[in-house]
Amino acid sequence: MSTKDSVLILLKEKKDKYLSGEEISKHLSLSRTAVWKAIQSLKEEGYEIEASPRLGYRLVKVPDLLLPGEIKYGLKTKILGKEIYHFKEIASTNDLAKGLAFRGALEGTLVVAEKQFLGRGRFGREWISPPGGVWSSLILKPEILPFDASKITLLAGVSVTETIQEVTGLNAQIKWPNDILVGERKVAGILTEMNAEIDKVNFIILGIGINVNVEIKNFPSELYQKVISLKEATGGEINRVYFLKSLLESLDKYYLELKKGEFEPILSRWRKLTSTLGAYVKVATLEREIVGEAIDLDEHGGLILRLDTGEKQVIYSGEIC
Ligand code: BTN
Repeated sequence: MSTKDSVLILLKEKKDKYLSGEEISKHLSLSRTAVWKAIQSLKEEGYEIEASPRLGYRLVKVPDLLLPGEIKYGLKTKILGKEIYHFKEIASTNDLAKGLAFRGALEGTLVVAEKQFLGRGRFGREWISPPGGVWSSLILKPEILPFDASKITLLAGVSVTETIQEVTGLNAQIKWPNDILVGERKVAGILTEMNAEIDKVNFIILGIGINVNVEIKNFPSELYQKVISLKEATGGEINRVYFLKSLLESLDKYYLELKKGEFEPILSRWRKLTSTLGAYVKVATLEREIVGEAIDLDEHGGLILRLDTGEKQVIYSGEIC
C-alpha cells in the first residue's frame, strides 16, 4: 500500500478528530517529511485536510471522485481493484487498460475515469461519458478458451444489473447480449475486448460504463428516449464510490466462481435478470435480420431463437432492434 493510502486510512479512522504529524509518523514508521508529502498529495487529489500547528491534521471533506484510496478503503475483493488507476479525464479507460495489460499489469487492475472524451461502445460506436458516470475497465486473465470469453460479458451483465437493483431498488434488466436497461432505456453498457492466441486468452479488458449521476439532458436530444441515468430514475444522487465498490465485490465473487469452473449458476441468474427471454424479437446481425421467439441462452452467450418455421437458431453476435 502506498504511503498516501496509509495516511488516508489513519485520517479516516480518526473520523473528524485531529491526528498529529508525530502520531502518523510513529504509527507508520515514516519521517515527518514523508507524512507532510503524503498530506500534500492527498490535498492535490482534492481531499480537504485541515492542518493545525498545535493539533495536527484533520480530514474535513472527501471529494466526490472515484479516487483509489476511496475505492480500496474496506473493499472486500480477492482479485479485483488491488491496483487502481484514476483519471480526471482520459480518451478511453479500455484503451488505457489495454496498454497496461501489454506492459504486464496485475490481473484485476482497475482503470477508472471521471470523464472520457473518446469513450467507445460496441460496434465502434461513440459512448458518451460525461462527469457523474462510472467509466471503468478491468484487466482480467482468465484461463479460458477464447470461445468462452463471452462468459465474462454475461457475468458482468449479471453483476451490473444486480448491483443496480441492490443499491437503488430499481428493476434493472438485461437486454441480450449486454445492454442494461431501466424500463426501455439504457443505463449501462459493457464492452469486452480480448487479446488472445488460437487456444489461449492473454488478457481481457472488461469495460463497463454506467450512467450513474450523469445529466441526460446534456446528451444529444435524439438519445433522450433511449438512455437514462440512475439519478434520473431514482430522483436522487447515488454515492458513486459505494456503487463501484459494490459492483467490484459482485464481479469478484462471480469471477472467482467462473475461475472454479462454476458457470451454470451465473447463467441461471442471467436468465432471471433478462427481459429478452420469452419475447418475440428481431435481431440484426452483420449479415441480416432474423425474427423469432427468444427461448434460451446457450453457455457461450448465444441467443437461441425459435423461428416461425419452428426451427431453432443460435445467434452469437447482433443486436435486438
Ligand atoms: C455498449 O456499447 O453498450 C458498451 C459501452 C461500454 C462503455 C465503457 S465506459 C468504460 C469503457 N471505456 C470505453 O471506452 N468503453 C467502455
